Amino acid sequence: MKLRYKIASGFLLILALAITALAFTLSYTAECEPVAGVAEGAVTMKAVVNRCYGPPEVLTLEDIEKPSPADDEVLVKVHAAAVNPYDWHGMRGSPYIMRLGTGLGSPKQIRFGADFAGTVEAAGKDVTKFKSGDRVFGGAAGAFAEYLAVRENRAALIPDDVSFEEAASLPIAAITALQALRDKGKIEPGQTVLINGASGGVGTFAVQIAKSMGAEVTGVCSTRNVEMVRSLGADHVIDYKKEDYTQGGEKFDVIVDMVGNHSLSENRGVLSPEGRFVIIGGSKGDWLGPLMGPIKAMIMNPFIDHEMGLMIAHIDGDDLAELANLMERGELSVVIDRRYSLSEVPDAIRYSEEGHAQGKIIISLEP
Ligand SMILES: NC(=O)c1ccc[n+]([C@@H]2O[C@H](COP(=O)([O-])OP(=O)(O)OC[C@H]3O[C@@H](n4cnc5c(N)ncnc54)[C@H](OP(=O)(O)O)[C@@H]3O)[C@@H](O)[C@H]2O)c1
Repeated sequence: MKLRYKIASGFLLILALAITALAFTLSYTAECEPVAGVAEGAVTMKAVVNRCYGPPEVLTLEDIEKPSPADDEVLVKVHAAAVNPYDWHGMRGSPYIMRLGTGLGSPKQIRFGADFAGTVEAAGKDVTKFKSGDRVFGGAAGAFAEYLAVRENRAALIPDDVSFEEAASLPIAAITALQALRDKGKIEPGQTVLINGASGGVGTFAVQIAKSMGAEVTGVCSTRNVEMVRSLGADHVIDYKKEDYTQGGEKFDVIVDMVGNHSLSENRGVLSPEGRFVIIGGSKGDWLGPLMGPIKAMIMNPFIDHEMGLMIAHIDGDDLAELANLMERGELSVVIDRRYSLSEVPDAIRYSEEGHAQGKIIISLEP
């Protein structure tokens, strides 16, 4: 064998071994740790805990130490929280690639849930925006609990007329809709926008926020949700059980896709010449499944006029305040599908994983 073939096969062998080792490391799931005791005399609270990766059965409702706020945090008594697909992706550590951030083998952060609304009980010494008694909402680890500590830049005040349940519905889902339409979609008044997945948590907000930005909105949902999506302000509704939006003649300036059930070329076929395709969600899968669309879009982007790509939302206090303003002005309302108690969080997650939520799923901590 010639030397260059030997070098090439040696390199390929090392690459194959490295990929195998990485795949093994990422997919390895450790056994659940036993419940840890609480220090004697510690003040405790009820919280849902995720000590290992796995199905909803790994979630436990435990008495754990009540947090105390750091200098830049507030301690919030939680009145309502909301479920997002983000929760069960974190619970399962899937797709595996996310474990590079959430923890290899087992979760680094065992407190579960992200979206919350509640009352400030105490504020750290550097906190300037909030004081005891304020009604606040936001996103932070550990929302499915009686209390959580959150940095002040991840929370905002709840307007007087907005309930805790409504406010808890906003953080991840409405921020995703806002950032997708404003920052990636760069929507301008009069543009045409298609929202694929218009009946879910993100979609119900996306329809309304796109309308508030002056767009002409088409929502795609199933038959049972057509009236609901229309009532949120959509100018046109496509029932995906009867019609395929990629086969119609109409072109859109922006498509925001929560579902990922059509190929990039099918979506490009219904984008206007300089249209933008914003990928928010995709198919399920532990490995490349959900990432295939974004990876293909990244590869194709330099060679095409359309802008396509994945958007990852981030919790931002100013965006939360903007959403609160939209609610106060009556331009944003919340569709609540089901309510569960703290002890029913595993059932709430099971329901969310089915992928047919109509708006938001709430965890209610009100007595
Ligand atoms: N990139 C990010 O930062 C980010 C942030 C938030 C969420 N996400 C992702 O975005 C996706 C949606 O999140 P979500 O909170 O809106 O989920 P959700 O609340 O569970 O909503 C799912 C919705 O999709 C609808 N749906 C299912 N199949 C459909 C189809 N073929 N065409 C149109 N609609 C369909 C369902 O209604 P029917 O069953 O009636 O059709 C349901 O209302 C998830 O994959 C999530 O992981 C990403």
